[in-house]
Parts: sequence; C-alpha cells; structure tokens
Amino acid sequence: MLLGDAWATSASGETYDVLDPSTGGVMATVPRAGREDARAAIDAARDAFDRGPWPRMRPEERAKVLEQLAALVQERADDLATLEAQNGGKPIRQASFADIPMAVEHTRHFAHLARSLRDEVVDLPDVGIKSRVLREPIGVCAGIIPWNYPLLMAVWKVAPALAAGNTVVLKPASYTPLTALAYARLAREAGVPSGALNVVTGPGPEVGEELVTNPLVDRVAFTGSTEVGRQIMALAAPGVKKVTLELGGKAPMVVLDDADPEEALPGTLFGAFLHQGQICLSGTRLLLPEGLHDGFLGRLVRMAEQMRLGPTSSWETDMGPLISESQREKVEGYIRKGEEEGATLVTGGGRPEGFERGFYVEPTIFDAVANDMTIAQEEIFGPVLSVLTYRSEEEMVELANGTAYGLAASVWSQDLRRAERVARGIRAGTVWVNHHHILSCATPHGGYKQSGVGRELGIYGLHEYTELKHLFLDETGEAMKDAFGLVLPD
Ligand code: NAI
Ligand code: MG
Repeated sequence: MLLGDAWATSASGETYDVLDPSTGGVMATVPRAGREDARAAIDAARDAFDRGPWPRMRPEERAKVLEQLAALVQERADDLATLEAQNGGKPIRQASFADIPMAVEHTRHFAHLARSLRDEVVDLPDVGIKSRVLREPIGVCAGIIPWNYPLLMAVWKVAPALAAGNTVVLKPASYTPLTALAYARLAREAGVPSGALNVVTGPGPEVGEELVTNPLVDRVAFTGSTEVGRQIMALAAPGVKKVTLELGGKAPMVVLDDADPEEALPGTLFGAFLHQGQICLSGTRLLLPEGLHDGFLGRLVRMAEQMRLGPTSSWETDMGPLISESQREKVEGYIRKGEEEGATLVTGGGRPEGFERGFYVEPTIFDAVANDMTIAQEEIFGPVLSVLTYRSEEEMVELANGTAYGLAASVWSQDLRRAERVARGIRAGTVWVNHHHILSCATPHGGYKQSGVGRELGIYGLHEYTELKHLFLDETGEAMKDAFGLVLPD
C-alpha cells in the first residue's frame, strides 16, 4: 500500500488474500493495515497538505498532472480491465467498455474543471469595494469506497480532491484493493507528489474508523451502505468534519402504459441486472400498470432466462458472480424473505446449475410484491427484481416515492411531456426517462432522503472539495478612519 513516499507493508506484518469471485480462488495478497498504518497515511497527507507543493500549485499545474494520470490509465487500459474484471466480478466486456474508459474520462474531466477554479470578484456597491471569493482546498480528505466499482469509485474520491488542491487518504473496500493501488501507482508516475495520495488496504472498522475520527482529517467522503453511512456521520460529528455520503438505493423503474416495449424491456432488464444488481442505482422495483402487467412481465422473464452467466474473463458473459460468499448469502436471505412474505417467485431464486465454484446467483424476479414487503423496501444488492402493479398515476407516484431511499429512478414512456411530469414528482437525485444507469462526469450524482448527503461529479462534486473564503480587501484606505468616531490621540 502507499504511505507517503513508500510502498509499504503493514506495521503488524499481516496480510490478507484477495479473491477472484468467479472461482473463489486467491488472486493476490495485500497488507492488512490497522490503525497504526492509517495514522501513518494521515500524517503523510497532513504533512503534504501543510508543507508540500500540491496545495500551493496553480490549478493549471495540477490539471496537467491529472491529465497525465488520465493518459497513463488509458495506456494501461487493457491490464486494468483484466484486473478489474477478475477482482470485481465484472464481465470483461463491461470492465473494458465502461469501467476503465469512465475512469479515464472522469479523471480528465476533473483536470478540466480544476482549470475553472478561479477567484470570483463580487461588487459591494454599498461599501464601494470589490470583494473576492476564493475557493480553497479543505485539507486532508479521506475516501472510503465500496467494491462494486473499485477503480471508478477511487477516481471519484481522488480526482476531485486532488484537482481542488487537497491531499488524500483512500481506503478501498477489502475485497477489491487492486485497481485502486494501480491508480495510485500511476498517479505517482504522473507527478502527484509524495504524501498527496495515500492508499491503505485494511478493514473498515479499523482503518475506516481511524480515518473518520482522526483529528488531522478534515473531510470524509464515503460510498457504501446506509448503515455504515449513519455510523460515519456520527463518528465524524465530534470533529465537525465535512462529510459527503453516497449510500443505498431502491430505484423504481416506472413503466407508463404508452411505453415502447422494444425500449422498455431491454432497458429495465439492464436497469435491474447490470453488474448482478450490485449497483446503488440499480432498478430494483419495476412498477407496471395493471393493463400492461402480464404481457410485459412474461416477456421480461423470458429475457432474464436468456442471460448468459459465466466467468468474468469471457467476452460472452452477461452476468458474473456476486462479490463474495457473504454477499451471496445475504441475497439468498432476501429471496427466502420474499417467498415467506408472500411474493410470487417467477424466475430464478437460486444458484445456477453448472457453477460449483464462484459466488453466482440466477437473475431473480418476484411478482405480486406489496410495497411494505422487505424486498420492496431494503437494498438487496444482488440480481433480485421486485414487480409492483399500479392502477392510477397517483398510486404510481406514491409507490415510486414509497421507500426511505431517493437515489435514482427511471420513467419509460413515448410521451415525453407526461414522462417529465412523472419524473418531476419523483424524489430522487437522478431520474432518467427511457434510460437507466447512464452517468455523465458533468452532471451531479447523489441522493435525496436516506440515499446520501452531498453530490459527486461535475462542478457540483468539485465544489464539495473546496472551502469558500470571503477575502475583503479595503483598497480605499478610508473606510475605518472614523470607526467609533474617536479622535486619534497623539
Ligand atoms: P459497507 O458499507 O460495509 O462498506 C463500504 C466501505 O466502508 C468499505 O470500504 C468498508 O471497508 C468501509 N467500512 C465498513 N465499516 C466501516 C466503519 N465502521 N467505518 C468506516 N468504514 C467502514 O458495505 P458492505 O458491507 O461491503 O456491503 C453491505 C451492503 O452495503 C451491500 O449489500 C449493499 O446493500 C450496500 N452497499 C452499497 C454500495 C453503494 O454503492 N451505495 C456499495 C457497496 C455496498
Ligand atoms: Mg459492511
């Protein structure tokens, strides 16, 4: 792992195995960091912030380094895709065509945005002065990330923080540290100075908690479960640290009765089962109008049954394994719960045949789901889709909004005015019309309600890594002369 200038082992000497979820076999061994290692990383980041060159460089200079980093990721795209696919349980097609290109593009976009960081001049006509508003870096930023997009999540925590002149300690998820370490190696090669970026590989309850509670850390950015998000908010409170959280979701996919099935069928299948449903944005609740229900669901089930499960190294694979045995058990627990609570299992529900190794689960669809059932309310993070039926537009909007989450939603209709009206009524950070999952580096990403705090991506995300300073400069030399109206003694 990367502590300051050193590629380091853990202070305890302990290591742990990183698995390939397609086989359950060991693919790498990395340091198992503890609190002491986390503190070493924080000290390095603090020193780099307080005394190092990075925060003092002009934004244009930082942009050049980040552009070089993007170029290096591009150069190593094939190797990174192979690593991401094998470690993350992500079909190689997705890793190659989505994860790695997005990592390049998003790094480059934050470099571009760094150039837009300028002081603003604000006219204060009442006092006859032009004031300045500066965007300064916050300090040491901790990034704590999940295992579903190991490289992209690292980019989202590292690139905007560095672009704005902060220094960073990144903690990858224990299951998936490899591409984050590779990104850090390329960052050093690109010219990110010693200590400006540190990566600590170790468990959340030790390394993560040290990052959140250590007084030398100024800001925490977390992506993961709502449960851990709540803990992080509480742990960060005594130090009044700035916190952004990107948490769970339970995105509805709302099909209107005039939706084009040629678009809505493959679209909602993709919404539900991309990356085995292990995405916070995954469409996990399908809302169908009564009149469309039978025909639409029948065809969707046949499509789900055609999906090709396989190892992530195969270009034929549509769905890979889940990340871990414990994630599979969690998902299977939800499937049992769905059956117990009276939903109708219409396809999937178990482990696919012919996969003795690896953490596979079939694409699973439940019909006749009531909105108060556990599988309609809780984030499952697996290939499990709940189908709900609505009878009126009013009921549909109520169902769409009827969870504690508000991360994303999609609306499917050929009538764009009607779709927009529905979209405006949904309380979520992203609403797609006739699309699901697409992300742009220029637009904000984040959650309403218990899906999070703050936004990532775009200028909105970059600003989350800055402090605003009002610099009032009295250029007149006059304004304070008769403060209190007293006569100056000799
Ligand atoms: P998690 O929320 O426990 O882990 C996310 C990150 O937080 C990891 O790096 C982990 O090491 C760290 N962490 C864990 N406990 C911590 C603590 N006390 N203090 C500081 N950092 C801590 O997610 P997990 O256990 O891997 O998955 C459980 C569920 O979380 C999933 O089934 C899914 O529902 C949800 N999840 C949501 C994600 C999202 O993108 N919103 C991503 C991953 C998981
Ligand atoms: Mg956990």
